[in-house]
Amino acid sequence: MPDLAAMSRLLHRSLHHMPPKATGGHGIYLVGEDGRDIIDGSGGAAVACLGHNHPAVNEAIARQLARVAYVHTGLFTNDAAEALADALLEGEPGGLTHAYFVSSGSEGMEAALKLARQYFLEIGESRRDRVIARRQSYHGNTLGALAAGGNAMRRAPYQQLLSGAFSHVSPCYAYRDRRDDEDDEAYVARLAEELEAEFQRLGPGRVMAFCAEPVVGATLGCVPPLAGYFRRVRDICDRHGALLILDEVMCGMGRTGTMHAWEQEGIAPDIQVVAKGLGGGYQPIGGILIAGRVIAAFRRGSGSFMHGHTYQAHPVACAAALAVQQVIRDDDLLAKVRATGERLADRLVERLGNHRHVGDIRGRGLFWAIELAADRTSKAPFPPALALNTRIRDAALERGLAIYPMGGTIDGTHGDHIVIAPPYIATASDIDAITERLGDAVDDAIRSVAN
Ligand SMILES: Cc1ncc(COP(=O)(O)O)c(C=O)c1O
Repeated sequence: MPDLAAMSRLLHRSLHHMPPKATGGHGIYLVGEDGRDIIDGSGGAAVACLGHNHPAVNEAIARQLARVAYVHTGLFTNDAAEALADALLEGEPGGLTHAYFVSSGSEGMEAALKLARQYFLEIGESRRDRVIARRQSYHGNTLGALAAGGNAMRRAPYQQLLSGAFSHVSPCYAYRDRRDDEDDEAYVARLAEELEAEFQRLGPGRVMAFCAEPVVGATLGCVPPLAGYFRRVRDICDRHGALLILDEVMCGMGRTGTMHAWEQEGIAPDIQVVAKGLGGGYQPIGGILIAGRVIAAFRRGSGSFMHGHTYQAHPVACAAALAVQQVIRDDDLLAKVRATGERLADRLVERLGNHRHVGDIRGRGLFWAIELAADRTSKAPFPPALALNTRIRDAALERGLAIYPMGGTIDGTHGDHIVIAPPYIATASDIDAITERLGDAVDDAIRSVAN
């Protein structure tokens, strides 16, 4: 057997492992090199919300290519970007009035952080240069976004390069962090006190923003907030005059059953970061949605955001995203996400709820995770050296299911979870197939570590 990884000139995620090749895709399926259909049970990393090869999106891309592929925003605007901004901001959801499009979630996060900083320069509060975020979060891999994130595993090699402007408080992670003597309300109150204390520690007029994923994505594994958590967060930010940046790169654009995950929390952000489900993977695109009051400060002040990328508001990327969003609206896919999401939750609980090594099942809409435990009672994780999450990935792939595995759930080293994030077009029987294959894959993987 030739060592394919050694022969490839492409720097893969591992130099020792060549991933299988995908040669095609249709609907919820990816096609392997052997011609086999594989259910895309996580849309990659919760990206492919419409599945693959959607004719309306393909046509929109081809149409835009035939008109113009690229213009620079320093010189021209373009119809696709203008129409995408109009579509996303129709009715000014939560007071968001403007959009800025970039090419990824990380670029979106960089734009959000810089916009927040410049906002305070515009209003004469230049001492605000600190950002509070949460441990075990992920905001991207560029240096600013990585510094904002609390993903211990991804931060470790680059620690010396990460800005000290960021500090981190606890996530809202009831499965492991709520004490036995606390109910949800007391736990939320404790988290709010911790955040308040961090604002106090940094000092009055120093914090420019608090950043969080409304439903924590890959790092913790689809952890929704407890009721009332984000209202407390919003209050604290408002009292301290700081902006609230919500990173909906993974959980947004319909993934949790509402267009924005924050809609279910009774609050709205000042700046929202979006990406994955925005373009559904048909083109690389991310962006930020910005509150009218932030834009108003820029209007009164310098009048321009001191930022920019060569490929921002890219016409083909925006045309693809616009088509994706039109399909979501025209096919009423948010209602479908809510309905199939309930089925996914039920099926996961039926198949794995009593499994001796599944400690927690959590999520919202079509965004769910299982967290594995060596011992359900003590919640002790499996030894990281067993790489249980990648074993489950491999076992699932053998059974024709692609899912998103992650380790380091608890602290960047310990813990394993699996993210399930099917395309919004998945049917009830697709959901049943996903949960059956996942359940069998968990059993296969557990058997392999027991031997
Ligand atoms: C919540 C969140 N923010 C930001 C990012 C970074 O996005 P990208 O990988 O497109 O740069 C991700 C990617 O996984 C994410 O899940």
